Amino acid sequence: MLLTTILVAAAASVPALAAVPSLHVPACPAKGSISYDKSVPDLAPFPRTQVDLCYDKSAIHITFTAHNETNFFVNPNFTTNDPIFEFTAMETFISRGTNDPQTYLEFEVAPNNVTFQAFIYNPSKVRAAGAPFDTFFVATPIVDGLTAVTTVDKPKGLWTSSARIPLGFFNVDDGQAKGTRWRMNFFRIITAPSTFPAQFYGAWNPTPGPANFHQTPEFGDITFV
Ligand SMILES: *[C@@H]1O[C@H](CO)[C@@H](O)[C@H](O)[C@H]1NC(C)=O
Ligand SMILES: *[C@@H]1O[C@H](CO)[C@@H](O)[C@H](O)[C@H]1NC(C)=O
Ligand SMILES: *[C@@H]1O[C@H](CO)[C@@H](O)[C@H](O)[C@H]1NC(C)=O
Repeated sequence: MLLTTILVAAAASVPALAAVPSLHVPACPAKGSISYDKSVPDLAPFPRTQVDLCYDKSAIHITFTAHNETNFFVNPNFTTNDPIFEFTAMETFISRGTNDPQTYLEFEVAPNNVTFQAFIYNPSKVRAAGAPFDTFFVATPIVDGLTAVTTVDKPKGLWTSSARIPLGFFNVDDGQAKGTRWRMNFFRIITAPSTFPAQFYGAWNPTPGPANFHQTPEFGDITFV
């Protein structure tokens, strides 16, 4: 009787588990792939965006592919860790483990190959108003082995960036990635000179409410197999 009461009370106090998408990621050169074509937050049609992932001994390899890009609009003055998210970018947020993270890597790349990389401390997990929200920049990404190679094909409306993200950023030692579990989401930002600073957003797992990518309960489940 007591046990039943406790179980009912526990069930009542635990919010329904949100169904987040999941992906199995193999060792390179095989790849795990996702694509998305819905906007945030309206779930309107959004240009198709693909992400291919694999891991090797010492890094996560992520290839971002943006279809139907029309403007490729960037701020040419921006360099490493400038706010490229104000213009055109593709992004991932990455945390090792299975819980909704408070701290995670934010990695972004723009069509001109400029990157933004920082660990975010977001203890409210949703960037709640008034809660701490801190940014720890990765100061020397290339020295660390965090790199991107970007190609742009304007006639085809296509841009692609292949990023290498060190496993050591997440305390995964060389050769130990198989079997590790992760939470990640993927995003794309589109803007144009005619509409700037307004932006159009897409996500693998769209975040609810006013556009705010920093909602970690929405991060998908990733397993390195
Ligand atoms: C994307 O581009 C393809 C090929 O050019 C085209 O067929 C398709 O309609 C476009 N989709 C959107 C959403 O613009
Ligand atoms: C880049 O810098 C130049 C020189 O300061 C400036 O004229 C230009 O407006 C800047 N571009 C953008 C997009 O901010
Ligand atoms: C882009 O930046 C990376 C470093 O992150 C560099 O290795 C690469 O040569 C750059 N150029 C292109 C076209 O990707």
